[in-house]
Amino acid sequence: MVGVRSHVTLNVNQAPLDIEIDHRWTLLHVLRDELGLTGAKRGCDRGECGACTVLLDGKPICSCQMLAMQVGDRQVTTIESLGDSSNLNPIQQAFLDKDGGQCGFCTPGFLLSTKALLDSNANPSEWDIRNGLAGNLCRCNAYGRIIESVKEAARLIAEG
Ligand code: FES
Ligand code: FES
Repeated sequence: MVGVRSHVTLNVNQAPLDIEIDHRWTLLHVLRDELGLTGAKRGCDRGECGACTVLLDGKPICSCQMLAMQVGDRQVTTIESLGDSSNLNPIQQAFLDKDGGQCGFCTPGFLLSTKALLDSNANPSEWDIRNGLAGNLCRCNAYGRIIESVKEAARLIAEG
């Protein structure tokens, strides 16, 4: 079935991208299946797990729960913008150092929620961390190491 389509400009990772989108497509679908940005994961596809987390104007959202048409001129940040294997962001380095993941499926979402948290609160308490990551689930139950990773990320960022 073909739906109504429109040409839009999406701002993804600081770059304007012109794309034709079906009005029924979610932001997650556009990122993964149209733009090839597969860091955001499709877990539950119904707003419960946070695997699809991206930042919208700096705030974490479930990209499976937003239509791409709703994004407008807001800035979308995906995990692909954070760093790469030759130039890790301090948050990535901290998760690596503290073993803040197991299978890694949830990790992109946790990293972006951590970025949003630390951008607004450079020295979070453990309660702040638990609260800031409350929208992300880890089916491997790596929560203890994830919390330690966020503390380490705050420390690395403070060190500069
Ligand atoms: S895939 Fe979006 S919240 Fe689970
Ligand atoms: S590390 Fe496997 S789901 Fe979190």
